[in-house]
Amino acid sequence: MLDKKTEDLKVLFTQEQIEQRTKELAQEINKDFGTEEPLTLICVLKGSSIFFCDLSKHLKMPVQMEFIRVSSYGNQKTSSGHVQAMDLTLPNLENKNALIVEDIIDTGCTMKFLTELLCRTHKPKKLKVVTLLNKKMARKTPIEPDFYGFEIDDKFVVGYGLDYEGYMRNLPYIGYFE
Ligand code: IMP
Ligand code: MG
Repeated sequence: MLDKKTEDLKVLFTQEQIEQRTKELAQEINKDFGTEEPLTLICVLKGSSIFFCDLSKHLKMPVQMEFIRVSSYGNQKTSSGHVQAMDLTLPNLENKNALIVEDIIDTGCTMKFLTELLCRTHKPKKLKVVTLLNKKMARKTPIEPDFYGFEIDDKFVVGYGLDYEGYMRNLPYIGYFE
């Protein structure tokens, strides 16, 4: 049985706030990449799945949607710092524009691992990172996203893709337990 209930969650960002910020981020991305050249969007499963789909609807360039899976958390609430690649199958990105879409950057270990690996193995023309949430204070490695939705304190959040022991990803808002 799950030891936490959604009724005990404090709302951090409402569905409306997330929608509004996602549209703004898409505008920034449209401006940065331009609307002519194709863009490969890379979803980091499972956490960024909902943000990824919502963001993609507001992008104006021709978009390819790809999905990779890494794991760093297991079932604990603290990052292990050890990133495990579960599935990194991607089309050839050489000389292409690509954007990694994350739910949250916490210690930064996952993003460091991914950006270094993709740059080395794929040699994209331009590789950028967007994350909905940015836990700047929790960094263990100096890495910053090119675009982010909200900066948050170092607390454990759930909803809108983010899970607690595999649950609560489906909540339309983002919340935390006090
Ligand atoms: P990092 O490697 O420490 O930056 O963490 C990366 C991954 O840990 C994220 O993509 C999330 O899937 C997960 N994560 C980090 N913080 C939280 C949180 O507060 N709630 C749920 N998942 C989290
Ligand atoms: Mg994630």
